Amino acid sequence: MMMERLQCAELRSRIMTVTQAAALFRDGMTIGMSGFTRAGDCKALPAALAERARHETLRLNLITGASLGNDSDGVMADAGLLARRLPFQSDARLRRKINEGQVMFIDQHLSETVEQLRAGHIPKIDIAVVEAVAILPDGGIVPTMSVGNSASFVAQADRVIVELNTSMPTGLMGMHDIYVPEAYPGRQPIPLTEPDQRIGTPVIPVDPSRIAAIVVTNHPDSPSNVQPPDEDTRAIARHIIGFLEGEVAAGRLSDTLLPLQVGIGTIANAVVHGLVDAPFRDLRMYSEVLQDSAIALIDAGRVSFASASSITLSEPVSRRFMERLDEYARRIVLRPQEISNHCEIVRRLGVIAINTALEFDLYGNVNSTHVGGTRMMNGIGGSGDFARHAHLSIFVSKSVAKGGDISSVVPMVAHVDHTEHDVDILVTEWGLADLRNLAPRERAPRVIECCAHPDYRDELMDYFQRARAQGGHTPHLIGEALSWHERHARTGSMRSEQMACA
Ligand code: COA
Repeated sequence: MMMERLQCAELRSRIMTVTQAAALFRDGMTIGMSGFTRAGDCKALPAALAERARHETLRLNLITGASLGNDSDGVMADAGLLARRLPFQSDARLRRKINEGQVMFIDQHLSETVEQLRAGHIPKIDIAVVEAVAILPDGGIVPTMSVGNSASFVAQADRVIVELNTSMPTGLMGMHDIYVPEAYPGRQPIPLTEPDQRIGTPVIPVDPSRIAAIVVTNHPDSPSNVQPPDEDTRAIARHIIGFLEGEVAAGRLSDTLLPLQVGIGTIANAVVHGLVDAPFRDLRMYSEVLQDSAIALIDAGRVSFASASSITLSEPVSRRFMERLDEYARRIVLRPQEISNHCEIVRRLGVIAINTALEFDLYGNVNSTHVGGTRMMNGIGGSGDFARHAHLSIFVSKSVAKGGDISSVVPMVAHVDHTEHDVDILVTEWGLADLRNLAPRERAPRVIECCAHPDYRDELMDYFQRARAQGGHTPHLIGEALSWHERHARTGSMRSEQMACA
């Protein structure tokens, strides 16, 4: 068994316990770890490093692909191990430490991290820790359920540690396509013109002499925690499908559409589920994460090929995926996140990007990250990589949150992740606002009428009308623009006194 996984004979002597491997880390180091939306994360070292941090001074700067599973971010944060964390997380305990100012979190476009490392804008990686299915005779590392930033971490680190996960099927070999862009100056175009194209190698190349330790693990990825579709998310899906049908009828898209990118989370997953019954065929995905819904579309014969950087699945879907791995392996490729999210390719392929907003405003600015304008939720992730360069940039949200106390449509967002220039379409359960070719004064009434919850529509319209009367290209009452957030912070609700009485 181990011979099949560890095919490089000279590395067999470097198998060690996780405690021995954890002893290689020093206070202040910068670490690059595999892991992207709970998939392909290291299962043993995070806990072992946290254990050390509980007994001695050990603070690390941790860079990953994206969020980790196995409560790793929470365990490391609670142990005081994390000094600096980037580029994305989604753990409640780490979120608390970030918002308390105890962990310095750098919320970054996911395509940019390794570019910044390469350029020296971020301190060099001391140790790369990557999860693998196998190590080939020449040292080549076969990643597991995500590629993320692992290839560049391995290329740039002083030393490499591999967590060899025997619970991951060897059938994953061949699903990955590792391509790292050339150096500046004189970088050539990335030669990818179709989602199903392979342009790199199936493994992460590494000189075996740089592998300092191998730790054997046997834990599956954490199951995804997305909730099933509900009435609201089904309505959002229906609006998007209706809109896309309209685009086909108008001759702007064919019934195979253009490659789809769909963001993380419950709402995005539900939207994709809706496509199972839509009249489109031979769809292709050029996305960052494949959730349960992508597998459902492949099963239904709607999606013929999916390119991503990670696959994060619920327990039952993961079981089915592993049982029929050969079938899925023909239809899926996993790439480094700088390629899955690369602006050059997103624009070239004409990607239709669907991402989720916490809130958006009358003019189309979107906040995806900061609750109340100050408290970090998860991070921008790849939404900005796609939204800016997409053929169509769609943002979805439920019209209200927290039982109706928060309107997701506000006069002015309290934090901007995606400016009005990057947003074409806004959707809630109430409808879809097509903002293309609309000036700000035309956008506002459309957003209110199509997307706002009826409880908040009159007040939004009243705000807009009073702002418009004052003038300006993008009318605002500056003293009042954020008053809805202020009211929520003060009273626990965005509802005004008049609304509460009505
Ligand atoms: N103000 C405060 N809280 C809000 C809110 C708002 N305007 N809108 C939503 N929320 C809360 C919800 O109540 C929910 O809280 P809970 O966890 O306490 O129940 C939480 O945010 C998540 O919302 P939910 O409706 O379950 O949506 P989701 O799981 O689809 O997540 C995002 C939505 C925005 C948090 C998530 O998509 C995200 O992190 N996006 C940014 C990264 C990204 O887009 N990546 C895409 C490229 S892969």
